[in-house]
Amino acid sequence: MQLKLGETYNVVVSSPESARAFLKTHDHEFPLRPYMPSASIIFYGGKDIVFSPVGDHWRRMKKLCTTELLSEKRVRSLRPVREEEVGKLMKLIGGEAGGGGAVNLSRLLFAVSNMITSRTAFGTIRELEGSFLPVIHQIVQTLGGFSIGDIFPSNRLLIVLNTLIHNTHTVQDVFVAAGDSSPIAVEWTMSELMKNPEKMEKVQREVRHFFDKRGEGAVVDEALLNELKYLKSVVKETFRLHPPAALSLPREGPETVVVNGYQIPSRTRVIVNYWAIGRDPSHWTQPNQFIPERFLDTCIDYRGFDFQLLPFGSGRRVCPGMNYGTAVVYSLLANLLYRFNWELPNQIKPQDLDMSENFGGAISRKKNLYLIPIPYHAP
Ligand code: HEM
Repeated sequence: MQLKLGETYNVVVSSPESARAFLKTHDHEFPLRPYMPSASIIFYGGKDIVFSPVGDHWRRMKKLCTTELLSEKRVRSLRPVREEEVGKLMKLIGGEAGGGGAVNLSRLLFAVSNMITSRTAFGTIRELEGSFLPVIHQIVQTLGGFSIGDIFPSNRLLIVLNTLIHNTHTVQDVFVAAGDSSPIAVEWTMSELMKNPEKMEKVQREVRHFFDKRGEGAVVDEALLNELKYLKSVVKETFRLHPPAALSLPREGPETVVVNGYQIPSRTRVIVNYWAIGRDPSHWTQPNQFIPERFLDTCIDYRGFDFQLLPFGSGRRVCPGMNYGTAVVYSLLANLLYRFNWELPNQIKPQDLDMSENFGGAISRKKNLYLIPIPYHAP
C-alpha cells in the first residue's frame, strides 16, 4: 500500500511475504532512517541506535547492545534486580488484596517495569564510571589541561571515552524502548486471559503445578519455559494479536529498488505493519480470536525468523532487547498468575471487557486494566 503523507511517500508492508522481501531479501537496500525532526532533537541528532542509519556508528552501538548491555549473560545477571522488584510488586498487590477492592494493574506494571529498567540502566552507568572515570580523571590531572584527544588521537582511551559518551545515548534508548513494551505485553496478556476464563484456568494450572513442585522462588528462565509450554504459547498469542510496537520505524533506500515486481523510488519511507501481519487471515485461522493452543504443536517463534509473527521485527534492525524484554514479561506473568486469582470489578462480564487500543508509538490499552486480586494459597 502506498500512502502520501504531506510531502512524503510511504509504502506500508502488511503481509508476511512482503515483510520477508523487505526485511530479509532487500534489507541491505534500505539502510537509512528518514529525518524525523522531533526524534532528532530528543535522540542527539541520530547518535543513538533507534534513529541511526545503518553504518559504522549504528553497527558499533548495536554490537555493544547485543554483546554487552543486553546480552543473554547480562540479562541473566540482572535476575536479582527483576526478582526483587517483582517481589515488591507482589507484596504490594497482596497488601491491597486484603481490602477486596480492585487494583490499577496497568499503573503498577508500568511503575515496576520502569523501576527495573532504571536500576538496570544506572547500574550500567555506575559500572562504566567505576572502571573508566578514575583513569580519565588521573590522566587529565597528569596532563594538566590538555584534552585527551590532543594527546592520544588514536589511543585505546579514545575508544573507551567514545563508548562511555555514546552509552549515555544507549541508555536513553533503553529507557524509551524498554519502558513501555514489556508492561504493555503483560497488560494485554492479562486482559486476554480475563476475557477468556478457560485459558486463564489452563495457564494458572500449569504455572501452579510448576511452582508447587519447585517452590515459590523457582526461576522462570528460557530453559524452564520448555516446561511452561502453555504460558509460552499464551505470550506468543498475545504478541501476535497485540504487538506493542505495531509499526516498524520507517526505513529508506538511497536508490530506486524493485521489490516483488514493484518499483520503490529512492527516499520512499518503508513501514512494516507488524500488527496486520499477526492477523493476516491467509496465515492464521480465526485471526482475531485468542487461541494460544495454535502454538502448542508448531515451532513458530517471535525471534524474527517466522515472518508471520514479528513482534520484535526482523533482520538487521531486529530488537536487541528481546531477551531482556521477555525476561521481564515472563517473570511478571508467572508471579501474577501463580500468586493471585483475578476477578473483574463492577460485575463486568468477561466478554464485555473493553479491549480498545491507545494510539501511539507503542499500543497499550486505552483504558487502564483494573482487576481484583484474590491471594492463592498453595495446597
Ligand atoms: C516486549 C518487549 C519489546 C518489544 C515487543 C520490542 C519491539 C521492538 C521492535 C518491533 C523493534 C524493531 C522496530 C523496527 O522494525 O524498526 C525494536 C527495536 C529496538 N528495540 Fe525493542 N522491543 C521490546 C523491548 C525492548 C527492550 C527491553 C529494549 C532495551 C532494553 C529494546 C531496545 C530496542 C532498540 C535499541 C531497538 C532499535 C534497534 C535498531 O534500530 O537496530 N527493546 N523493538
